[in-house]
Amino acid sequence: MRHVLSAPQFDTAELLEIMSQSADMEKILDTTGYSEMAKGKILATFFYEPSTRTRLSFETAMNRLGGKVISVADGQGSSVKKGESIEDTMGTISRYADVIAMRSTKIGYAERAAKVSLVPIINGGDGPGEHPTQSLLDLYTIQKEISLEKPLKIALIGDLKNGRTVHSLQKLLRNFDNFSIDWVAPKELDIQDEYFNPETDRKFTEITDEVLSEADIIYMTRIQKERFENPAEYERLKGVFILDAAKVKKMKPEAIVMHPLPRVDEIATDVDTLPQARYFDPARNGVPVRMALIARALELM
Ligand code: NCD
Repeated sequence: MRHVLSAPQFDTAELLEIMSQSADMEKILDTTGYSEMAKGKILATFFYEPSTRTRLSFETAMNRLGGKVISVADGQGSSVKKGESIEDTMGTISRYADVIAMRSTKIGYAERAAKVSLVPIINGGDGPGEHPTQSLLDLYTIQKEISLEKPLKIALIGDLKNGRTVHSLQKLLRNFDNFSIDWVAPKELDIQDEYFNPETDRKFTEITDEVLSEADIIYMTRIQKERFENPAEYERLKGVFILDAAKVKKMKPEAIVMHPLPRVDEIATDVDTLPQARYFDPARNGVPVRMALIARALELM
């Protein structure tokens, strides 16, 4: 079964194939906006954690492929609340739908669901673990906005310990030998050793002029409030890094600023109208990429 569980499952050839299939889907979006490719199929979206973009872009994607959607936006309000296990819940949903997109609170839940599911599972974020579909859309954005072929330096900034998007994105970027990574985080939110490659990467505890002036991509992330056991610790660290227009002016003119969203305060609103800002429009890339992932899971392409 074509599950999407974790970024390391993809090799370079498969990533390039997904990029090209996403571009085909974008052509559909830009012309008729509709296809009957998934007619008669059902996508279930089951989200245990809040989501705006991931769930709605999955649902938009399935609607635009001509399929139907059943959805639980607040998994905590389902039988999970009564104490049902992830295996029993997802096993049941897999008897209703042809493909499932899920978001869970704990690392590894998507894998556990995949073990019992009768249909493909797509991981829409497993706690502080991974978020492979966000990273595929980030990769698609990088390919469209810059290139996957030329040498690029990306600065991943913010809550690197708990931010699942950077965990998956770094893994996808390692498939292209042109990438080097600057990891920028306060020491409490530092990246796990398993993700750090001392041969190509550097670590910083502040957004220095060196980071700003050398980056081709600044990728900002939110301090993940929901992962803090101690609210005082969150209060102390929130707002630790703020990218504003003055900092963006220190970047190369052709460099870009990305963010998976939602933003809290880590990018000042004065950046939004600068030419480097690439976080609102590219959020739309979630639709063609997820159309491609659904079509692949259903073995329609
Ligand atoms: C991210 C997530 O849920 O991990 N959002 C998203 O899916 N676009 C980032 C975040 O919540 O900070």
